Amino acid sequence: MGKKGLRDIAWTSFVKLPVERKAEFVHEDGRLFHVLYARQFDRPMLDELGHLATRIRTLAKSREGAMHLASLLAHKRAMLYFTQPSTRTFLSFCAACQVLGMPTGEVRDRATSSELKGESNEDSVRTFSSYYDAIIMRSPEQGLAERMAWVLSNTSRPVPIVNAGSGKDQHPTQALLDIYTLQRSFENRGGIEGKTVAFVGDLKRGRTVRSLSTLLINYPGVRQIFVAPDALQAEPDVFAALDASGVPYERTRDMDAAVAAADAVYMTRIQDEWDESKEESARTDTRAFAFTARHLDLLGRDAVVMHPLPRRDELSTDVDGDPRAVYWRQMRNGMWIRVALLATIFGVAEQIDGV
Ligand code: NCD
Repeated sequence: MGKKGLRDIAWTSFVKLPVERKAEFVHEDGRLFHVLYARQFDRPMLDELGHLATRIRTLAKSREGAMHLASLLAHKRAMLYFTQPSTRTFLSFCAACQVLGMPTGEVRDRATSSELKGESNEDSVRTFSSYYDAIIMRSPEQGLAERMAWVLSNTSRPVPIVNAGSGKDQHPTQALLDIYTLQRSFENRGGIEGKTVAFVGDLKRGRTVRSLSTLLINYPGVRQIFVAPDALQAEPDVFAALDASGVPYERTRDMDAAVAAADAVYMTRIQDEWDESKEESARTDTRAFAFTARHLDLLGRDAVVMHPLPRRDELSTDVDGDPRAVYWRQMRNGMWIRVALLATIFGVAEQIDGV
């Protein structure tokens, strides 16, 4: 992967590139800077981040370790710019900043910011970058995070943008925590390689699936199964990326067969906030795409059930007590991997690994 930055390319050229080429431009001074796409993470980086997250998790258990971590970025501040609802991603980023001693500021509602007075997004992020050293942002607008990253990289005060969910498109840090959860779940079973991952639910509008499917391309032999009603099946770009890398995959409506074949079942909710007519989701019968206690009998002994959460009725609470249900652990992993990510962006990972 090249070590180019967004300063090296005009916006009009950049915006036309396919995502795999865009992902080459996320560096600054030869180091990881912006986090915009799942595509930008290669296998060595995924291994490194997982290793670092585990080291952080262990260190944070002791007072000395926690104090060391909290000293590492005490001289930096992070801005959380979340104009789309969020509980876990917001709080886990907040907690991750606290672990590293980074104070945070936030805008969670455009109605309380000067954007309502007509200020452009560009001016808003330049304002944030005057006070903060990183901007972690979630937006309903696809492509906004990359636009903001380009704008900031081309100012005299570039600060990293971390995409915490953009439109229906990308959720790269969710994919990192999902990979970390899979790494941990399969660490005594030969790793993620060769496993079968079944995605279930609204695969059309769920950005977590697109991002995780992309990251799984880094693991040889992984088979992906996409289980959804026809109207909510994943978009063609997801399959094109798998085709281009020779990854085996299957599209199906047969949830029982997929659950029986899977090493990991990744459940997702119906993303009806994207309905254009408010009825599309209601018209699709999704009852056959819910994981209930009955599926536990079909699921392999060593398999796991994941969910990015929030859940509705696609994942029964009857499943929560089963040791194969890892979604609560998955959620906590999100905090540790985000600490690892921030430490990497700010170049303090070696001060964690070396202790
Ligand atoms: C997901 C999201 O925002 O895309 N939530 C999350 O970050 N854990 C999934 C969802 O909202 O369904």
